[in-house]
Amino acid sequence: MPRPDRPLLGLVLAALLALASQALAAGEAGRQHYILNCAGCHQFDGSGSRAHEIPNMRGAVGHFLRLPEGRAFLVQVPGTSNSKLTDAQIATMLNWLVEEFSRAEVPLERAHHRLHRPVEMP
Ligand code: HEC
Repeated sequence: MPRPDRPLLGLVLAALLALASQALAAGEAGRQHYILNCAGCHQFDGSGSRAHEIPNMRGAVGHFLRLPEGRAFLVQVPGTSNSKLTDAQIATMLNWLVEEFSRAEVPLERAHHRLHRPVEMP
């Protein structure tokens, strides 16, 4: 029996797959920027170092997204602003960072927003 809805379903699936692989690629790039520019001080898992007064970002850094000042702070901390990353790379890296280390604290409306605009600056 012919299924006229099949071609449409195929298109929808192809679009979803394309979106998912784009998001994966951005996540991988964000992770690499973090490892190359930040992990030396902040550790691979974002836990920082008490002995060197490097704050633990885990379960915390997502709170900064609640206020414009917090979002501005995130892009202006010396480790980020002194890095060689471009603005777009910083956005990709920070989008990865907040979800990797602090997904539960990312405000819901930002998490939703992010799905539509992967590159996001304050
Ligand atoms: C040379 C070591 C070093 C590097 C490299 C570094 N940071 Fe930091 N970072 C610190 C220190 C030390 C602090 C604490 C500064 C303070 O409290 O004034 C800090 C603070 C922060 C904070 C504030 C966290 C909080 O809870 O207050 C964020 C966010 C941050 N860094 C992100 C980054 C990112 C992203 C990168 C990479 C692009 C990076 N840092 C690279 C040493 C570093």
